[in-house]
Amino acid sequence: MSAPPLIVLTGAGISAESGLATFRDNNGLWERHRVEAVATPEAFARDPALVHRFYNARRAQLADPAIRPNAAHHALARLFAAWPGPALLVTQNVDDLHDRAMPGSAALLHMHGELKKIRCTGCGHGREWAGDLSPQTPCPGCAATGTLRPDIVWFGEMPLGMERIEAALHSCGLFLSIGTSGQVYPAAGFCAALRGRARTVELNLEPSLGSHLFSEAIQGKATEIVPGYVETLLSKQKQ
Ligand code: OAD
Repeated sequence: MSAPPLIVLTGAGISAESGLATFRDNNGLWERHRVEAVATPEAFARDPALVHRFYNARRAQLADPAIRPNAAHHALARLFAAWPGPALLVTQNVDDLHDRAMPGSAALLHMHGELKKIRCTGCGHGREWAGDLSPQTPCPGCAATGTLRPDIVWFGEMPLGMERIEAALHSCGLFLSIGTSGQVYPAAGFCAALRGRARTVELNLEPSLGSHLFSEAIQGKATEIVPGYVETLLSKQKQ
């Protein structure tokens, strides 16, 4: 059987069972922090130290040995290693759990940026970063202070890789949406854009806002439903 071009979109729900908080569930990040205070360019201009503290804490969490890719991340790594057609894994997550499950994969695109990357708004220098940042941290490229920021897409900013995503959506035949509430655009609009052109499947703890738009919706924890779904997909490809 020939494999349809595949897009998998993931959100915070896929990392929840690895110990990382989602945004909009009970006790989620946006219940404990105001979006306008930590995740906009205006917030960074107003109080960069506060914004740095928010992302420093989240970056530090990734160094905790207890935070590891879970069975859903590993299942997607198997899917991407074996899929015989074009395949793109678009994640809204800024954690590095997909990266650890499928190191070096060219199929992975972090559309909302990455916690472990920073860039300088002065000279444009970007690099990997594992430690803390503060307004006093000098840029390793130009030595300026106050110009380094997390390489995260904040509200009001353009997501990364949109040209590549648009091209993949154009030819997509199978779309999986995993662990996302479907509340943030443009990702929330991918399923609607594919309607009538591709098979669309949602795998989420609960129906998302746009659940009714999918060809199929499967509810459950990512570690419990994603591995089985992936095995079924791969066995169909072998038939
Ligand atoms: P949300 O917190 O909005 O949604 C997480 C979804 O995961 C919810 O629908 C949950 O029901 C589901 N979920 C929770 N635990 C799960 C589990 N164990 N298995 C499967 N599903 C589970 O997170 P996102 O949709 O990723 O953007 O949020 C999208 C964007 O909004 C984020 O990238 C972030 C945020 O503001 C920026 O910061 C720019």
